[in-house]
Amino acid sequence: MLKIDSITKKFGGIVANNEVSFTVEDGQIVGLIGPNGAGKSTMFNMISSIYQPTTGSITFLGNRIDKLPAYQVAPLGISRTFQNIQVFKSMTVIENVMVGQHMQTKTNFSGMVSLLLGSRSEEKLVYDKAMSYLEFFGLENLFDQKAASLSLGKLRLLEFARAFATQPKLLLLDEIAAGLNHKETLEMSELITKVRDSGVTILVVEHDMDLVMRICEKIIVLDQGTKIAEGTPKEIQENEAVITAYLGADIDSSEIMEAVI
Ligand SMILES: Nc1ncnc2c1ncn2[C@@H]1O[C@H](COP(=O)(O)OP(=O)(O)O)[C@@H](O)[C@H]1O
Ligand SMILES: [Mg+2]
Repeated sequence: MLKIDSITKKFGGIVANNEVSFTVEDGQIVGLIGPNGAGKSTMFNMISSIYQPTTGSITFLGNRIDKLPAYQVAPLGISRTFQNIQVFKSMTVIENVMVGQHMQTKTNFSGMVSLLLGSRSEEKLVYDKAMSYLEFFGLENLFDQKAASLSLGKLRLLEFARAFATQPKLLLLDEIAAGLNHKETLEMSELITKVRDSGVTILVVEHDMDLVMRICEKIIVLDQGTKIAEGTPKEIQENEAVITAYLGADIDSSEIMEAVI
């Protein structure tokens, strides 16, 4: 589905990604992990065409996407969430999801039918569909709340729901469990699996090792821009280079040790 081929991204003198290659197969949940500054978000920004790579290519379902503007990549079926949550705070929960659907409605067949029938029926279709997305994410009771009033955990669910509402083929989740408590993190991993089972391929950047090891079929490890390992959760846990990279990093090593050993 996705082929990252020898991607390098430089910001002035900083090499954020250094000849990174990997693939994501249809139906997989793939994890992209590594210490802070490893280049994970930069990779996401290139897959969603917010940045263009300095060199290398990105192919999605057979199409080169690395030189396309972001507005042309999203309709191909790539959606994402952001490390710093990006929702419309002054809109209600359901309005945020309806924004996510908007692009889809305008481009598919039912969207064209709706346009012919008039905007009121289109609105109703979009509203009903948005409600079904909210039910999928357990947010239906909050549908008329302003996004600004939500807790962090609900905001992350809302951003996830909005990304899912674009009906992507590939969903990029950037630290979707950051700041969540243990119970919320468990629920999030179940939701990610449920979304995958509905037919969406998923690439996750995540610091919570329990979550990554539980849900991913394949894990890619970046360190200072370079891919240092790739494999199954078990292979990654036993990989010397990975253990060294994490222990050398300025992060809470006790948490990592628990997951790695
Ligand atoms: N827009 C940018 N301009 C300059 N440097 C950047 C930019 N985005 C990321 N970087 C740098 O690239 C490196 C990788 O960052 P990032 O991809 O955010 O890492 P991660 O998500 O793995 O923590 C860091 O050194 C960061 O400071
Ligand atoms: Mg990041």
